[in-house]
Amino acid sequence: MRKKSALERAGEEGFALTYDDVRLRSGFSEMMPHEVNVCGRFSRNVDLKIPIVSAAMDTVTEHGMAIELAKLGGLGIVHKNLSSEKQAKEVAKVKLHLNGFIEKPVCVFESDDVKSILARMEEKGFDFQSFPVLNDNKELVGLLAGNDFEFCDDEKLLARDVMTTGILTAKKGVTIEAAYAIMKERKKKILPLVDDSNRVLGMYVFSDLKRIITGSNESYNVDENGRLRVGAAIGVGDSAVERAEKLVQKGVDVLVVDTAHGDSRAVYDTLRRLKDKFFGVDVVVGNVSNSDSVGRLIEAGADGIKVGQGPGSICTTRIVAGIGRPQLSAVYECAKIALEKGVPICADGGLKNSGDITIALAVGASCVMMGGMLAGTEESPGKTIFLDGRPWKIYRGMGSLGAMRGHVGSRERYNQIDENKLVPEGVEGKIAYKGELANIIFQYVGGLRSGMGYVGAKNLLELREKGDFDRISSSGLGESHPHDVSILKDAPNYRGK
Ligand code: XMP
Repeated sequence: MRKKSALERAGEEGFALTYDDVRLRSGFSEMMPHEVNVCGRFSRNVDLKIPIVSAAMDTVTEHGMAIELAKLGGLGIVHKNLSSEKQAKEVAKVKLHLNGFIEKPVCVFESDDVKSILARMEEKGFDFQSFPVLNDNKELVGLLAGNDFEFCDDEKLLARDVMTTGILTAKKGVTIEAAYAIMKERKKKILPLVDDSNRVLGMYVFSDLKRIITGSNESYNVDENGRLRVGAAIGVGDSAVERAEKLVQKGVDVLVVDTAHGDSRAVYDTLRRLKDKFFGVDVVVGNVSNSDSVGRLIEAGADGIKVGQGPGSICTTRIVAGIGRPQLSAVYECAKIALEKGVPICADGGLKNSGDITIALAVGASCVMMGGMLAGTEESPGKTIFLDGRPWKIYRGMGSLGAMRGHVGSRERYNQIDENKLVPEGVEGKIAYKGELANIIFQYVGGLRSGMGYVGAKNLLELREKGDFDRISSSGLGESHPHDVSILKDAPNYRGK
């Protein structure tokens, strides 16, 4: 990575800078914004089609955010202020939302009555309606699908009375392309895969295959089985390893050891245990802000590192504990070490506008994590509230009193033991309702594309290579924002200072 002059000089003088202290210089460009490639990386094996990850916070990421963000090409990290069972269910909802190949389809027995099947769907929150039907020998005898439920006017009937029989099946190992062709030809929406004894070994759903085959899901961030990607936060110690076990069972793509101080013994111990136990699952660790910490974590096996101590919009760590490092210098110093070893850095917290995304990536981050910039969207957890006639949603720090009271996940993040004697490191607030995530992300990625166009960078690698900065003064920052005008209309990508 080319040296960033403003950051290098500041570093030599013992200064640390953050987003508002710099702006990128423009350079010769042959790139139009729509031509640039914005793919990023969260960890060694988890790629991103847009370099945006949602924060593991209880007012930011549950399955709704994770599903929509993965569909837009990013990644959601499900927070850990939930029991391990609930968090695993949230992960399952993302993984089951869009199944190229359903490894373990939910089956029912022919002797089950419709009422109990509907109750199970409700209880488990299934958002699908197609179930292979098995006999007592667990052999496939039929299929229950949307139509069968719709035309059934007596819930006491058994699955065998309402199911569709004579169904199309294929052997396991059939390729996605072959499965798609058979289903299309026979006009079947579901294709159970069976062994020689007619036992179910998997299932394809036509609409999912169509999306994969026709490329209409080009923007989706999916795993090798065509399922949306999702990450989940865990803490440290035995309970974290137990939690990880449940998450891995549901197919989580990446575990995030999410603490306020990633360079600590308990984190290293947990990281090593996770890497030993869950071969093939990436582990991202955070948070840190120094290059020495990055070196140690990579040595211990981290597949990605989250950088950010105290930059967040709801954080008070720097004020309460006096700890932390202005975010841009932190990301730059950490990325210099991590990129040499092929490990991505996620710049976590402190971003206020889309231009900050371009800046974070230009200093070496492979993606950004956002809390405040994604909170308040339709897809973030929690209800919309109306105050003074305007819509808001709650956004709170995971180290705030509200989040730590009653949630061991939050207390653990900040090493707090006694629920009745808490020292918060975050605040609770409200944030303006922003509407649908897709529109918000369109603006954020649009800003990034535009920035890359100005620099003349066709991908993140070139942005890192070519991007250089001027350090700016407070008058420079004032000049950067609209000035000497009263704004009459809100812009979709600018909310003021
Ligand atoms: P933004 O600026 O995107 O920051 O709202 C989100 C990130 O802030 C971290 N976080 C906290 N840090 N006290 C802190 O010091 C807190 O209560 C707190 N809650 C979240 C976290 O890294 C998140 O991704």
